[in-house]
Amino acid sequence: MKKVRNLINITDLTVEEINQLIEVADDIVANHAEYENICAHKKLATLFFEPSTRTRLSFEAAMLELGGSVLGFSEAKSSSAAKGESVSDTVRTVGCYADIIAMRHPKEGAPIVAAQRTTVPIINGGDGGHFHPTQTLTDLLTIKRKKGRLDNMTIGLCGDLKFGRTVHSLIEAMLRYEGIKFVLISPQELQVPDYVKEKMDAAGAEWTEVETLEEAIPQLDILYMTRVQRERFFNEEDYVRLKDSYILNLEKLETAKEDLTIMHPLPRVNEISVEVDDDPRACYFFQALCGKHIRMALILFLLGIKRA
Ligand code: NCD
Repeated sequence: MKKVRNLINITDLTVEEINQLIEVADDIVANHAEYENICAHKKLATLFFEPSTRTRLSFEAAMLELGGSVLGFSEAKSSSAAKGESVSDTVRTVGCYADIIAMRHPKEGAPIVAAQRTTVPIINGGDGGHFHPTQTLTDLLTIKRKKGRLDNMTIGLCGDLKFGRTVHSLIEAMLRYEGIKFVLISPQELQVPDYVKEKMDAAGAEWTEVETLEEAIPQLDILYMTRVQRERFFNEEDYVRLKDSYILNLEKLETAKEDLTIMHPLPRVNEISVEVDDDPRACYFFQALCGKHIRMALILFLLGIKRA
């Protein structure tokens, strides 16, 4: 089998490679015309066994803007998974039709299995409650563009830190930068899993856990809000009890720093009230745009294509 790079976990990329991707993402904005046909005759397949708006569509928009084409499916029931086909077989087949595959699957580890069965690069677009490395690249680009740096800051992560895969990947990524402090804001039941805490401890990171947004907000440079992950709960009662644990509104922002960056991977349900959208500190739709730029850079990187 041909050896290709995959992106399953954010640590599959070195810090230097992430810096390069950020540079290319900025170059894409600055010199857009140079990239318009760079992926001509290349195909991206998006295999989404779970719902998605931003991840799938930003991948597809990214490939189209690079002059390539896209194919794929947006729900398991429109693929042969509905007939009982294994992920391995689906991916092995699609590897015959596309040059690169972005996939999302409800089972943790599914992209690892997929990567073993195909010769084309596999990108994990989210596997269950585990990881979401391309959201993390999006988050890093957003932070870099807003703050001008990726080190020396206090990041508050709020909401469903147990099932929120974007949180797990972002923590892992930020552990590699100097001077990062984490404030983990969640109800007890939705705290960060132990394996993530172990990674923070192993890296010697500074972290605290609190239960209210109010006690965390004044110290934060970044506030990363998340949705309670209804689809990963075992029962609806627990979801209903916990879903509105945190609602960010303008009143809560009164004690926040002037230059706070408010992020959210989206979709939002109730956790940020719409009145916050017009606050200059709200960056979540800008973040969605960053997602397209960094995915363009990632596709080029994994296909080994460079601007002439
Ligand atoms: C996130 C995801 O799918 O994990 N969404 C996204 O990709 N932007 C967050 C979520 O679904 O809550």
